[in-house]
Amino acid sequence: MSGFSIDALSRPELAELSAYLPDLHRYRVRLDANEAPPLMSDAAKARIAAVLAEGAWERYPDPSLAALRAAIAQSLGVSPAEVLPGVGSDEVISLLLTAFVRPLPPADQPTVLTTTPSFVMYRMSARCRGLRVLEVPLDASWDLSVNALKSAIQMAPPSIVFIASPNNPTGNLASQDRLEEVIAAAPRSLFVVDEAYIAYSDRDQLDLYRRYENVCILRTLSKVGFAAFRLGFLLARANVVAELDKVRLPYNVPAPTQRVAELAFTELVPEIERITGEVVKERGRVAARLGELKGLQITPSQANFLWLRTERPAMELYEALKERSILVRSFHARGGRLSHQLRVTIGTPAENDELCAALAELT
Ligand SMILES: Cc1ncc(COP(=O)(O)O)c(C=O)c1O
Repeated sequence: MSGFSIDALSRPELAELSAYLPDLHRYRVRLDANEAPPLMSDAAKARIAAVLAEGAWERYPDPSLAALRAAIAQSLGVSPAEVLPGVGSDEVISLLLTAFVRPLPPADQPTVLTTTPSFVMYRMSARCRGLRVLEVPLDASWDLSVNALKSAIQMAPPSIVFIASPNNPTGNLASQDRLEEVIAAAPRSLFVVDEAYIAYSDRDQLDLYRRYENVCILRTLSKVGFAAFRLGFLLARANVVAELDKVRLPYNVPAPTQRVAELAFTELVPEIERITGEVVKERGRVAARLGELKGLQITPSQANFLWLRTERPAMELYEALKERSILVRSFHARGGRLSHQLRVTIGTPAENDELCAALAELT
């Protein structure tokens, strides 16, 4: 007996977490991860290949991310000092939770506030750093519950508030007036408005970013056709970005990703607009088809997925779809109203047709 036990060394919070290791490759139709369908043109692929062929792979990537920051900044009309690129928004979320987690009095421990249901990484990333997470349920139309959020803020002022808009998994935007009311109620907290799905939405929150010093915006290339490259970024005041640059690993974003992402914010903008435009059209077609099914109710979507209320238990539909090799997202394990909800990503027209046909049989 060596007396060594890894459990004695692990953070206690890890006992409540599991690794994200889904078995994805077994399924023919994968509508589970909100990626874009494979609509990239041959010309765009050739351009990416040409940039990657320039090589210089023996060198570390640019640690300052200068060219990429400049490209993102120019596309948004801000200064490069307001931009922090990361390895997906996931990395940016983890950097925020590493840097800005001092307890705000009268809170006696660092607290992170978000809504539920929402993107799970806010909670997972916070919990594995030992932070307290308060999750305030969304209201019956999946919008912000202002009073409940304000009570949470009063009880334990959060260091960081994460609000996804459009929200994952519900697909709707947070109402502008409610979001602003919550921001006004927490002037000492850093508000992260996560706009991962903004390319599919009618309205962004750049105006809130301009008006409130404590608001920042999180975006990603993952949902518009570049998930494999892993590039997300934060738009925030220069002093916020400067702090995050201290905790960021020096060579975090690989050079191929930096180069391709630079293209995505410059010459490939029209390509991305075409892809996202096609997905929005397809979203309308799929919503109309699924809307005709008696056993389903659809929340109007501002994202590249649909949030379906199912008369049958979601678990049964999820399992039956898996038997047909179609993978969607179910949250039935969380119970309550989520046991009758499914999230389905908009895929290619053929994939969507398969999903619609299967649901027509199953609902
Ligand atoms: C709301 C939201 N934010 C962030 C992410 C993570 O994106 P990334 O691939 O940039 O890490 C996702 C991915 O599903 C998401 O739904």
